[in-house]
Amino acid sequence: MTKNAIEVHDVKKAYISYDRKGILKVKKIIVQALRGISFSIEKNQVFGLLGPNGAGKTTTVKIISTLLVPDEGYVKVFGFDTVEQCVEVRKLLGVSLSVNKGFYWKLTGRENLKYFGLLYGLDGGELEKRLDEVLDTVGLKDLGAENKLWEEYSLGMKARLSLARALLTDPPIIILDEPTLGLDPPSAKSLRKMLKTLARDQDKTVLVTTHNMFEAEIIADKLAIIDNGKIIALGTVNELKRMVKGEISIEVNFLMSGNHQKIALEEILLSKLNIPIKIIEEERGLSLKTSVSDSESDDILSVILKTINDFNGKIYNVRVHQPNLEDVFIKITGRRGFK
Ligand SMILES: Nc1ncnc2c1ncn2[C@@H]1O[C@H](COP(=O)(O)OP(=O)(O)OP(=O)(O)O)[C@@H](O)[C@H]1O
Ligand SMILES: [Mg+2]
Repeated sequence: MTKNAIEVHDVKKAYISYDRKGILKVKKIIVQALRGISFSIEKNQVFGLLGPNGAGKTTTVKIISTLLVPDEGYVKVFGFDTVEQCVEVRKLLGVSLSVNKGFYWKLTGRENLKYFGLLYGLDGGELEKRLDEVLDTVGLKDLGAENKLWEEYSLGMKARLSLARALLTDPPIIILDEPTLGLDPPSAKSLRKMLKTLARDQDKTVLVTTHNMFEAEIIADKLAIIDNGKIIALGTVNELKRMVKGEISIEVNFLMSGNHQKIALEEILLSKLNIPIKIIEEERGLSLKTSVSDSESDDILSVILKTINDFNGKIYNVRVHQPNLEDVFIKITGRRGFK
């Protein structure tokens, strides 16, 4: 069997939309949602699809989940084509596209799951056993929430229930579209932990979309950054960060009297380190800034701190900024953040 759980090959997808300015002024618009994307997801990985609003994340997961057909290219799930062999593919997937939709308000969480379990062909003791397992896995049992009405659920509970539904048939692949959207930090944290555990202990492959760079960094074994319908970066978090290697920034804030001291300090640091170092005056004191490569950052920082000390400077703040995914995004797109 192929090592890859999912293979996305040069997929393109456009939507037809209409600009409605008035009853008679309806203009047809073609929206290129995916412009030829390719990536593969290895078995037992948590794979993150990270991108800003409108990047094409939901379109991608809908195509993989057989809910949309690509205009060009193809997707294979454990070797099965999502268009030609959609019935086989669906058996391999547990999908949650929205944590907030598709449940019955007046049923409890457990009753909702039971209803979907029956639809999926489970019943009797086997179904009850599976309900216990998934309610336990997603923590709804611990929260004492399995027998609460869905309409009384918090968003965090709904997110857990939606994951439980995706797990019902024990599929090897779980696909979740923005599962932590709107959750408070502790709920988001425990959901992320669950996804990691599913991949590690329950033999699952997990595809999760997010617009949250912090989340992508901590959750994903491998990551694709999608922007404007294109994959602009692909790799492990460390591989992506290597793209901005050499750009660790150091800032030291300190107090020191006399402008001549500042100039002398700059000169000594330049002669010791031979890298551009700027010291500027700020409201509270002096601020020294520089950018250095990963391997030499510790040595350079200790020389800087010692030299300021030799000048009787009083250091009150040191900041070392490690490159993060935002730096990667800025480097590739020239845009700051997902705005
Ligand atoms: N049914 C549709 N009809 C027309 N255009 C659509 C439709 N669905 C999505 N689009 C457009 O396709 C592009 C990609 O949308 P998609 O929903 O895949 O992005 P996304 O990354 O999931 O965004 P978000 O973070 O907002 O959920 C966007 O420009 C969006 O406006
Ligand atoms: Mg979306």
